[in-house]
Amino acid sequence: PAPGWAISADVVVVGSGVAGLTAALRCEAAGLATVVVTKARLDDGSTRWAQGGIAAALGEGDTPEQHLADTLVAGAGLCDEEAVRILVTEGPDAVRRLIETGAHFDESAEGDLQLTREGGHHRRRIAHAGGDATGAEISRALVEAVRARGLRTIENALVLDLLTDAEGRTAGVTLHVMGEGQHDGVGAVHAPAVVLATGGMGQVFSATTNPSVSTGDGVALALRAGAEVSDLEFVQFHPTVLFLGADAEGQQPLVSEAVRGEGAHLVDGAGTRFMVGQHELAELAPRDIVAKGIMRRMQEQDAEHMFLDARHFGADMWAHRFPTILAACRAHGIDPVTEPIPIAPAAHYASGGVRTDARGRTTVPGLYACGEVACTGVHGANRLASNSLLEGLVYAERIAADIAAARAADGLHARVPAPVPDPERPAHPLLAPESRFAIQRIMTEGAGVLRSEASLAGAAGQLQRLHAEARDALDENGKTAEPGVDTWEATNLLCVARVLVAAARQREETRGCHWREDFADRDDTGWRRHIVVRLKADRS
Ligand code: SIN
Repeated sequence: PAPGWAISADVVVVGSGVAGLTAALRCEAAGLATVVVTKARLDDGSTRWAQGGIAAALGEGDTPEQHLADTLVAGAGLCDEEAVRILVTEGPDAVRRLIETGAHFDESAEGDLQLTREGGHHRRRIAHAGGDATGAEISRALVEAVRARGLRTIENALVLDLLTDAEGRTAGVTLHVMGEGQHDGVGAVHAPAVVLATGGMGQVFSATTNPSVSTGDGVALALRAGAEVSDLEFVQFHPTVLFLGADAEGQQPLVSEAVRGEGAHLVDGAGTRFMVGQHELAELAPRDIVAKGIMRRMQEQDAEHMFLDARHFGADMWAHRFPTILAACRAHGIDPVTEPIPIAPAAHYASGGVRTDARGRTTVPGLYACGEVACTGVHGANRLASNSLLEGLVYAERIAADIAAARAADGLHARVPAPVPDPERPAHPLLAPESRFAIQRIMTEGAGVLRSEASLAGAAGQLQRLHAEARDALDENGKTAEPGVDTWEATNLLCVARVLVAAARQREETRGCHWREDFADRDDTGWRRHIVVRLKADRS
């Protein structure tokens, strides 16, 4: 739609999690006129739900090299080693700067950071806050800093599309804003630099740890803008999500890896530890291996879930170390102090996303991406636990440095946006909001933890029908669903779901968190490569 209002800035940051707010604070500190736009409130989004913590080589005897080695193993041959090296070497100082910004991490009586372990880490290197409320503390500190610095923010602002100039360079974004006074309705922020930090796409599945706002908006925008997107087939399923019934939908409570890091056991209905003997790290194997171990045992025993047993922690440890998880379990009638917790894997993290280089640049000039929306190459085929907050921090800082350098070099000129299409004649079909649930069911059945050509072809066909119905209505009588946040979200979910399924079908092997029943082995000869997609121009 054509914007009804417009404001201008040097940089517009889209999203307000750890990546978005860090980018915004660093841009502002570099003297760049910065606007933050975010779909809900500043502290909504995935960051505040993060439990376990943030990984960095901060402990005695730990080194970035060891963190690098663990990250590469988890990534199953598809990490970009240089991108990981940047992450692990710049990570410790980035965490220190986050502490300077105001985040309080848990410390020992001597004032040292308390560090825990999670899957795939050979060392204690996960800093945490409030026991298991790390993301909430990071979000609090960053939101407070943004407010204290007086940064311009627009909440309830769903990003629609990228604006570009006649040469295809970034010129800003269009937004759909609800209830924000002078910036209500469809409008635009004009800026020569746009930072996508919109988070993930977990809502493409029925059951996920992601909040309802995680609808793949940034990846969908980037695809429509012609940017390259990579590795979408690598959806990470968190092994231990509180099991609330086979038909539970929407955001599900996470039971952090840190619970296993502190010694909890995975057991089946008979109380047998089934990860022992499957991997040298048993319950602390990388996440994909644990998720598969759980799924296999569920299949063998025809069970809907397994259990996480941490009764031996005792009431005090539960209350002090994992208060958030304790409260969530008790709210659902389970007391982890006296009974094992029913758990099953659920969609958790998009390891792929909008492809960037080491400075966070996408393939569209002036468009950057960081955090879960991005594919920096750090995660490969399977993200190592607690590397995501760190990636958001490190790459957001790099983006701010790159934009500041661009301004120092040539002035960061405003670009004149090419005209946007007539609002009466939408450029692409919009989906009815209720299609969201159909997409989630299709994806869970066809492209979930276990995939095959048959399941993926079924999903692709059903998604194509949803798309064709919307497109035919538009072609035949110009009709499309009433524009609105729910409509855009459903449309974005369909856009990312179709690309995800196409990539998962193409990758005929099992690697990291992509598990094909019909191609059970990793194929390093044929598939040690990435699937890179540009809308209407796929290549790999
Ligand atoms: C968790 O606390 O288990 C989540 C950590 C992560 O996803 O990195």
